[in-house]
Amino acid sequence: MSSTTFYVNDKSGVDTSEATGSESHPFATASYALFVNPDAKILIYKEIEEKSDKFEYQEISASALKKAKKGAESLKKKAEKQQKLKEDKTDDLPKLAELSLSSINEDSSLPKAKKIKLNKIQDNIDQRVIVSGWIHRLRVQKGLAFITLRDGYGFLQCILTGDLAKAKETQELTLESTVTIKGTILKLPEGKSAPGGVELKADYYEIIGLAPSGEDSFTNKIQEGADPSLLLDQRHLTLRGETLSAVMKVRSVFLGAIRKVYQEEGLLEVTPPCMVQTQVEGGSTLFKMDYYGEEAYLTQSSQLYLETCLPSLGDVYCVQESFRAEKSHTRRHLSEYTHIEAELAFLTFDELLNHIETLISKTIKYVIEDPVAGPLIKQLNPNFQPPQLPFQRMEYIHALDWLNEHGILNDEGEPFKFGDDIAEAQERKMVDTINKPILLIRFPGEIKSFYMQKCKDDPRVTESVDVLMPNVGEITGGSMRSYDLDELLQGFKSHGIDPKPYYWFLDQRIYGTTPHGGYGLGTERILAWLCDRFTVRDCSLYPRFTGRCKP
Ligand code: 4AD
Repeated sequence: MSSTTFYVNDKSGVDTSEATGSESHPFATASYALFVNPDAKILIYKEIEEKSDKFEYQEISASALKKAKKGAESLKKKAEKQQKLKEDKTDDLPKLAELSLSSINEDSSLPKAKKIKLNKIQDNIDQRVIVSGWIHRLRVQKGLAFITLRDGYGFLQCILTGDLAKAKETQELTLESTVTIKGTILKLPEGKSAPGGVELKADYYEIIGLAPSGEDSFTNKIQEGADPSLLLDQRHLTLRGETLSAVMKVRSVFLGAIRKVYQEEGLLEVTPPCMVQTQVEGGSTLFKMDYYGEEAYLTQSSQLYLETCLPSLGDVYCVQESFRAEKSHTRRHLSEYTHIEAELAFLTFDELLNHIETLISKTIKYVIEDPVAGPLIKQLNPNFQPPQLPFQRMEYIHALDWLNEHGILNDEGEPFKFGDDIAEAQERKMVDTINKPILLIRFPGEIKSFYMQKCKDDPRVTESVDVLMPNVGEITGGSMRSYDLDELLQGFKSHGIDPKPYYWFLDQRIYGTTPHGGYGLGTERILAWLCDRFTVRDCSLYPRFTGRCKP
């Protein structure tokens, strides 16, 4: 005799674990009750007499018990089957996880793979290639993994299938890991899209360096929209982003293009020193340093050195870092920037202006035509219009009129008057409104540097120029240089500079002086204009400005 009694009520009972088989929580069927315990005594809730409408628990009939035992048997089989399925599945999991990349061999019957960079994928369609790079995007599914590979030259979508996709290492891949993949480049069918309209069907791959997952993962380190200073701390990682790397590529093409124009225009490249003992653009922005016990500075401008090259090398230029201890925290000032400077002899102010606008427009044309930079500029600055020659020329005096007519006040909140400096904000309002490059010329001597040539028709102003671009303001500053020794010495005096350390520069006015002029162009400023960046900081590899000299 069984010690367990189960109550079965087909009206109020349930065949789940919610029921215990007690009178208060009965099962719904006798089959289920016997499935739970084959030896249980079963009491069925039924009418005492037919149509009496009175019910009570009664012992199960022999025939009903037989039927119930059969039902319990089939419930048991069903449960066993489900259990086996479940076990099979969990059995399968360790098997999958145990599939290691190292156990997958390269198929030696395949054609030899050709090593390529990702800018050469279009030349290698239907070829078996070997590509290496960083995992830029990643999607791993059951039996399929999509990797967007990045190598600095381009991007390529790679597909891993079969065992390559199932391998434990593939399941655990992370963004920014490095991999080497072998496979065939295939054109994508209509309707599918990937960079370059192709994908690599991988047949073999290796992991070179696995990047961290979890808390230290790449996306945790640099999050979109994070505080700019946090992103600058991680500049070495943010440089991997599509926007910043695009600007750096345009920068490289720009530097190549401007060198090409200089060559076409007959200027020679020189490399002046960075450590100097003279100033060019005012003592307040000099970075001082101890040079073996003597006071020295980081160069503000290579102009004076370029001037010394004219008699021996002809017209010259340099691409050199300049340093400015700018206290101002503006979006167009850096403490270190790449300064492109040139100096040209035996020319007039007008010829200098023509040279500057030719240099800028030719360089921009070459950058736009470049197969790498052209599409990147379209992406970064879709509305960019190359500037048309000639650039508008505007005298300082007329700029004051323009500002006053447009109700733009000077820094003291008053209308502009002769001698006022046109500050950054006002200058930008003007050029943004005119929305075209402007050659702003003939500034008063007292607001410009000591070396500028006075205009013959009006000695209050100088043969000076600032090139202004919409959204950025000044990108270039230049002038004719005073080439009369006495006039130059007067300039030193009025700016309170001791001429003694400048003997080598002054000698240019003694040993064969000549009318000459030059200019300096801020690389990061012209790039901010070209690539539509809000700040010059986005156009420098590792920007330096007040409070930041790392990483
Ligand atoms: O107008 P600047 O100070 O002119 C000179 O240094 C001349 N000695 C150049 C010459 O004639 N050889 O600077 C020239 C250009 C500016 O128009 C601007 O584009 C850039 O250099 N520049 C800066 N860019 C970023 N950060 C700064 N702090 C800059 N200061 C000047």
